[in-house]
Amino acid sequence: MERQSISNQFIYGGDYNPEQWLDRPDILARDLEMMQKARINTVTLGVFSWSTLEPEEGVFRLEWLKEMVDNLYAHGIRVILATPSGARPRWLAEKYPEVLRVRENRVRSLYGERHNHCYTSPVYRQKVRIINQKLAQTFKDHPAVILWHISNEYSGECHCPLCQAAFRRWLKQRYQTIDALNHAWWTTFWSHTYTSFEQVESPSTLGDSGLHGLSLDWMRFVTAQTTDFMCEEIRALRQAGATQPVTTNFMEDYIGLNYYELAREIDVVSWDSYPLWRYQSDSRTALNTGMQHDMMRTMKHAPFLLMESSPSSLNWQPVSKLKKPGLLLNASLHAVAHGADSVQYFQIRQGRGGFEKFHGAVIDHYGGEDTRVFREATQTGQALQALACVAGSQVSAQAAVLWDTESRWAMERARGPRNEGLFYHEAVFKSYQALRKCGLNVDLVQVEQPLDNYRLVVVPMLYMFRAGIEERLRQFVQNGGTLVMTYWSGIVNESDLCHLGGTPHGLTDLLGLRSEEIDALCTGEVHHFTAGPGAPLYTCRNLCDLVRLQGAQPLMTYTDDFYKGYPALTVHSYGKGTAYYICTDAEEAFYNDFYREMVSRTGLSPILPHLPEGLEVSSRQDSENEYIFVQNFTDEAIALPAPADAALLFGDFSEGKVQGCSTVVFRQKRS
Ligand code: GAL
Repeated sequence: MERQSISNQFIYGGDYNPEQWLDRPDILARDLEMMQKARINTVTLGVFSWSTLEPEEGVFRLEWLKEMVDNLYAHGIRVILATPSGARPRWLAEKYPEVLRVRENRVRSLYGERHNHCYTSPVYRQKVRIINQKLAQTFKDHPAVILWHISNEYSGECHCPLCQAAFRRWLKQRYQTIDALNHAWWTTFWSHTYTSFEQVESPSTLGDSGLHGLSLDWMRFVTAQTTDFMCEEIRALRQAGATQPVTTNFMEDYIGLNYYELAREIDVVSWDSYPLWRYQSDSRTALNTGMQHDMMRTMKHAPFLLMESSPSSLNWQPVSKLKKPGLLLNASLHAVAHGADSVQYFQIRQGRGGFEKFHGAVIDHYGGEDTRVFREATQTGQALQALACVAGSQVSAQAAVLWDTESRWAMERARGPRNEGLFYHEAVFKSYQALRKCGLNVDLVQVEQPLDNYRLVVVPMLYMFRAGIEERLRQFVQNGGTLVMTYWSGIVNESDLCHLGGTPHGLTDLLGLRSEEIDALCTGEVHHFTAGPGAPLYTCRNLCDLVRLQGAQPLMTYTDDFYKGYPALTVHSYGKGTAYYICTDAEEAFYNDFYREMVSRTGLSPILPHLPEGLEVSSRQDSENEYIFVQNFTDEAIALPAPADAALLFGDFSEGKVQGCSTVVFRQKRS
């Protein structure tokens, strides 16, 4: 397997904001020393520096940044350089109000906060292009600069007249004729027929918010417009001669954008991970965070970067809990285990004022090295040095869970069986966590990605079938793959029009059934299902699909209500493969038992033959070695049968145990 990395070691560091300290050269000098002590080798600069870089329109001050980059480089620290478009200077909004976003209620925002500019505004684009080019001209050949960080956490939408016009242009391109648009959006309903593209307005609570085709296309447009804006930023850098790779930082479970579209345009995926550690069991939090890491990795099937995480507490969650001793290292190595080639923090130094003055940092207001956080950050830096051979290695998965943002947009906007929540994230997580507990690496694929290399593909709640997914799933099963599909799948097409002729659309013969009706349970209401007397009785909630069998075998049946005896789980052979259908939103215990059996039936090979409860296992590989990460997020030491023919590469494995809140890494030669 090819090693794809922007560095031959782990990137270790984080966001650093020296522009807040330019009047304190003593502090800046001290920071350099402390970074070196903590083994920090890379910092991200310039994310929110625009007003310092261009204090007045057309007046550029890049000297301080150049000096900073030179200084860092002289201290062996490299730089990820950001374009500053995430927050604009005050002069820009004052002089050109069109850069300010208009909300869905058609009110234009005042200047303030960040991440809130219009992506269409030609003025904003031009001003961003200019500052990006200045940065690129200055730093294109600087040996310290290894990566461009494009903007910051792109998000949100703007409903200004410029965006409305751009939306109409985008629709014209997509549909060509207004009749085609009317058909796709089913506008004869409530007499909403358009006679011209000029009549289209973005969704608004003041106008149309229930025309699902419009809402869905608006979300697609917002993604397209954001991607276009990002590409314009990248083009500006390239035109000025910058050749370093580019990334942009994503957020956890953010549904305002289809990240897979942005991922196509960048060289490396990165994301900002802020789990709610110590809110519930950390093992569970780790599983949920692992799902996000896996999603980021699968976008390009390549190592990703952990662009931000907190060295300690946050300041914006409801309650700002500290990271308990050991958790910083464990959580950092968790990202690495799932395919990250970096561990980066927000932030290196805590600011004195502003919104984030109490956010955790490697260097806090006290400013010394004798703090718990600084010690643990240093240990983390040392650990990454010890594991340097793992950087750039890949993750290979035999099982995939399908994730689709567009389907989620459509499903969550539709008024249907349950308007109190459909729990898409949870549905995906239930299968994901069960597969992880079986000791498998898992990819989170989206509908357009190839499926051929997997042996097991899970399709939870894929409400919208698009991009020919039916055909690809058919081929996958035909060729011997195992498919697990759940309730509320294949209901609508890519325009959100309901499929005719039976659902899951195009796959009723493959599944050997047809979904006839779907019952919704009230919040808190519980039903049950079982394989029969003496077998476990599982609970289910929210949605119960009532299917008509057309060749599939029922493996379990409902035990409540008028559909007692109806199938709750089915299996059907098709081609060389097998297709399972889970009819209801089952409790996790069901998924755990189901996949345990599935793994042995389908001959999937877990990373470790026996994974003790409470431990998580992940693996990365290069052409010679497999690196097996075993992680314990509980407080107790857990015994682990050591993997055969493996050498301990990292961690405390005394008495054959993985200590509480810690990681061990084994290296195994690949045969
Ligand atoms: C991120 C953001 C950073 C910082 C951080 C605090 O979402 O990109 O700039 O605000 O949160 O946790």
